[in-house]
Amino acid sequence: MAETVKLTIDGRAVEAEKGTLIIEAARQAGIEIPSFCYYEGLKLQAACRMCLVEVEKTPKLQVGCTLPVAEGMVVHTDSELVKSARKGMLEFLLTNHPLDCPVCDKGGECELQDMVFRYGAGESRFTERKVHTDEQQWSPVVYFDAPRCILCYRCVRICDEGMGVNALGVGNRGVIAAIVPNHHDHLECDECGMCIDICPVGALTSGTYRYQTRPWEMDHVGTICTHCADGCRTTLGVRNGRIIRGNNRDRSGINGEFLCVKGRYAFDFTEHPDRLLSPMLRTENGYEPVSWAKALELVANKFGAVKARNGKLGIIGSNHTTNEENFFLAKLARQGLGTRNIDHHRTGDLTTFFDALSGRNDALATTAELYSAKAVLVVGADLSQQHPLLAFQVRSDVRHHGAHVYTVTRGPVREDHQAAAGVRVEQGGELAGVESLRDRLKSEGNLVIAFGDSIQGESLRKLIAFGDSLGIPVKYVCLVDYSNSRGAFDMGLIPREGGLSREQMLAATDLDVLWVVGSNPLKTAALSSTNAFVVVQDLFMTETARQADLVLPAASAYEKSGTVTNVCGEVQKLKQAIKVMGAKTDLEIFGLIAKEMGLDLGIWLPDKVFEEIRRTVHGYNVPMPVIAAGGAAATAPLNGRVAALPGAIESAGDTLFTSGSLSRYSKLLNSVMEAPGGLYGNQGPGDRGQGPGAGGRS
Ligand code: SF4
Ligand code: SF4
Ligand code: SF4
Ligand code: FES
Repeated sequence: MAETVKLTIDGRAVEAEKGTLIIEAARQAGIEIPSFCYYEGLKLQAACRMCLVEVEKTPKLQVGCTLPVAEGMVVHTDSELVKSARKGMLEFLLTNHPLDCPVCDKGGECELQDMVFRYGAGESRFTERKVHTDEQQWSPVVYFDAPRCILCYRCVRICDEGMGVNALGVGNRGVIAAIVPNHHDHLECDECGMCIDICPVGALTSGTYRYQTRPWEMDHVGTICTHCADGCRTTLGVRNGRIIRGNNRDRSGINGEFLCVKGRYAFDFTEHPDRLLSPMLRTENGYEPVSWAKALELVANKFGAVKARNGKLGIIGSNHTTNEENFFLAKLARQGLGTRNIDHHRTGDLTTFFDALSGRNDALATTAELYSAKAVLVVGADLSQQHPLLAFQVRSDVRHHGAHVYTVTRGPVREDHQAAAGVRVEQGGELAGVESLRDRLKSEGNLVIAFGDSIQGESLRKLIAFGDSLGIPVKYVCLVDYSNSRGAFDMGLIPREGGLSREQMLAATDLDVLWVVGSNPLKTAALSSTNAFVVVQDLFMTETARQADLVLPAASAYEKSGTVTNVCGEVQKLKQAIKVMGAKTDLEIFGLIAKEMGLDLGIWLPDKVFEEIRRTVHGYNVPMPVIAAGGAAATAPLNGRVAALPGAIESAGDTLFTSGSLSRYSKLLNSVMEAPGGLYGNQGPGDRGQGPGAGGRS
């Protein structure tokens, strides 16, 4: 038990852990000490002096955000002296601050406005003309209005400490001191918007959101980001049926306040003018819109006829669709259509992973454990590019807990800046690199190993054996690509029991039907069965959709309810934020096709399907209250009973700025200049989403 001290704050007896700062001890006791520069999790700055308190037996007011509690200390946070100091500080902060609250983008959410309302004076002794400088645009998403800045340095610290980017600094001194970007007049950075989010005032504003609405005019819908596999919770600001903001300021979910550029801004694909809004049937005159009734009848007749004559059906599912959709599709395929030919674009070798773990339920690291582990080993992956949240967790673990990071990668990665050791290897040399760290890893208290797609098959078994041989507790993360890659596997979108893999389906010359749901396999491969009837469900006319006989317009993750499972195997709930007229959720499409075919596969409401998943899918009997409340529930691995599968396993190599074809239809992601080719990616500017199977929602 940690040593505690007893003190008095505002006449109240308080007990706090030794070393606790006065501001925190007061918060724990329910007493607010106002602050601007103090921010939990960031280094202390002591810049704003809003947190001044009176400590008995000290000659002057003390800074509550840097002074630790001491035995017998008597603190006053609300004395006349403190109140007048606060008023003075606010008056000072407003010296050059434009009092443009009625038109400021931060109005209603501004900490300075709130502080002045609570503690400030309505008048000022400063009558001089305010220093003014013009607003600057630093990137498509970051705007800076210097006069509104109160120099709290939160933005500088979150960019440096939290993001590991260090793109912001301070230029000049005194009254003309101002935050400056890393490239003279513009930013070259992750474009994550964390600096905007953390800014207490309207100095940093978001290019996508600014001046579109007042915050209270929006509905705030908590759901899960649809891009990478990390599963960040995001609160979407919705107004008039449009998503206009993404953030997670309520710190709900596994990511706290963290969101990367994709989660924060790349929701704009939902309103791209190329969205499919009606079923499209290929005719002699090209594609023509048809009604849903006609489209469903056509699909049901075609599928029914092929089934009746024992024809060959192949289904390629998605790693963006929900668990419920994937589960229902697998059931529809196996029970309804009588086919085992079902697969998806697999981006990590979960088959071997689960088999090698042999049903050990404690071997999957959670997102939280990447923040609490004593050591983290990253093998064959560029975590900051491919898994921004996991990378953020690891950075925070190093800063807050002194964790050790080890990297075994093909080139330099951001994690190297903090790494206890970084090993560079050629492709295929990962295991030798890992082995070279054996002695150092053995001396760690515990370890999380996160590995990319180059570790598969025998190498993966050897990696798990290596972890087991260290003699310390080891947990693993098999890094897969997309928002429900893990759920697609767990729900059975895999060619079990002799079914054809994705590659085999495309190569077969006798397929009668190819049904592609939210994936774009024909972007990089050809379909050999030239007579197959091709049905595609997607948001856009992808390369695969352009080869379809019938295209069905599908809803995106922001337009549906259900659950998804992230890279760490944690289940979270999606909540519908908007509705796009004309499109249907994939689950509804599956249900309607089943109905049209006269198949009885049960109710296709997400909650009902999830109940069935909890009953029947190993490891998914997760506690409902956790999920219903917006939390993440860890699943157990599939119990080592997955036999080896045919087909390829390959990451699409997306980077921080790409996300299969969703990024092709995100104006915002296409407008930022960075978009680097990742170490493990094959994307650069102008080469987005070119990975195998990339595009569609894959
Ligand atoms: S957008 Fe992100 S990376 Fe860029 S300056 Fe702000 S915090 Fe730093
Ligand atoms: S821009 Fe905002 S976060 Fe950065 S120092 Fe100024 S007020 Fe603080
Ligand atoms: S880290 Fe992944 S899940 Fe989180 S916001 Fe970024 S893309 Fe979305
Ligand atoms: S909050 Fe203590 S000095 Fe800013």
